[in-house]
Amino acid sequence: MDRFLIHGPATLRGRVRASGAKNAALPALAACLLAGEPVALTRVPRVRDIGTMRKLLDHLGVASEERGDALVFHPGTPAEENGEAPYELVKTMRASVLSLGPLTARWGRARVSLPGGCAIGVRPIDQHLAGLEALGADIHVAGGYVEARAPRSGSGAGAARRLRGGRFRFAMPTVTGTENLLMAAVLADGTTVLENCAREPEVGDLARLLSAMGARIEGAGTETITVHGVPELGGARHEVIPDRIEGGTYLVGAALTGGDVTLEDAEPADLAPLLEKLAEVGATVEVSGRSIRVAGTGELRSADVATAPHPGFPTDLQAQYLALMTRATGVATVSETVFENRFQHVPELARLGAVIEVAGPVARVHGPTELAGAHVMATDLRASACLVLAGLAAHGETTIHRIYHLDRGYERMEGKLHDLGATVERVRGPMPD
Ligand code: EPU
Repeated sequence: MDRFLIHGPATLRGRVRASGAKNAALPALAACLLAGEPVALTRVPRVRDIGTMRKLLDHLGVASEERGDALVFHPGTPAEENGEAPYELVKTMRASVLSLGPLTARWGRARVSLPGGCAIGVRPIDQHLAGLEALGADIHVAGGYVEARAPRSGSGAGAARRLRGGRFRFAMPTVTGTENLLMAAVLADGTTVLENCAREPEVGDLARLLSAMGARIEGAGTETITVHGVPELGGARHEVIPDRIEGGTYLVGAALTGGDVTLEDAEPADLAPLLEKLAEVGATVEVSGRSIRVAGTGELRSADVATAPHPGFPTDLQAQYLALMTRATGVATVSETVFENRFQHVPELARLGAVIEVAGPVARVHGPTELAGAHVMATDLRASACLVLAGLAAHGETTIHRIYHLDRGYERMEGKLHDLGATVERVRGPMPD
């Protein structure tokens, strides 16, 4: 398993370009299952989760190739025996569940392995399933698989299976749940109204891609999305939005290390909750067009944060913010309201010298503490990013084990950190099973 060796302390300085958003690219790839013609996607981050999704699409009959700066997807017909998302692929990436909506909409049936729990919580998909049922799908869960069948749209055994428009209210805003239902509704017969939808920018990006393919969608980015089903979709060319979480990670790094980083080609509006916090804790924040500059001013103050669905403070930046608060003066209360078990980075941060108490969904960070290099273990993607940031701020050498988590979602991280003046080495080792 690869690991990172970080020689700290570092001061991040310079310019860095945000990669395309992993969490926008994954549903964009899934949307290619709906296309009748080729889809060219640009600014797709070259990270491991995208490789996994390409493998899944390939398995489902959608081949892809690199062409210039684009990934081009060629729609096909899934072979009968291949119309399923198998356990081997789903177990490595929960986002494989995004194939459920499009497969059911396009081919009338889907068989997708249940994603199961993961390090950050139980993460059920009950809302995805209830939403598909509201569009007329028959859902069976057996042997670790979800089987969905759309109703027959005519009479006789040869009649096509097609979802039908309906009304569904999500019990909570779910990002991939909203995306799955959006992809299911675009090819349904009639109009679908989805309520209490996730408003994350990644949902809006998916809606833009689907619209470019010919879908009729209103209200994406708001709580209520209306979809007028169309019989088929064509192809499209689409640029994925910048990754606000990746970009935000480098900006937190600038504040944490007392550096000065300009994030280029970003979408500042999508980062507003983080930028407000960075200014509140004492960093200089300047926005100019699509560039964001964050500079540390020497003194950091603690400030409380509670994660929430967009436009609240993103849970995917909670771990990085916790690292920042270890260097701030005072006590910061960080509440995690989206996932039930997302403080696994806390014991690892403690190994670097952080003083953090956790009680249920609340962490209290006592700062400032001097961090000192140590061996730490990455447990999930964003926890790993938090440990990298803490390692940059720590004195001495920090070794981060199991960085395959980072490789799932951060493109060229050590290269980008190197460009910002940090010394981060990747030490190669065999992959885990
Ligand atoms: N939930 C349910 N039932 C459902 C769906 C969700 O109870 O059917 C609950 C979840 O357990 C959680 C809450 O609703 O407590 C919100 O989860 P959501 O469904 O929004 O999360 P997700 O769609 O599985 C996406 C991102 C995550 C990110 C969350 C929250 C992708 C591929 N993943 O997950 O990203 O943390 O939204 O913003 O878009 C990451 O990139 O590191 C990552 C974990």
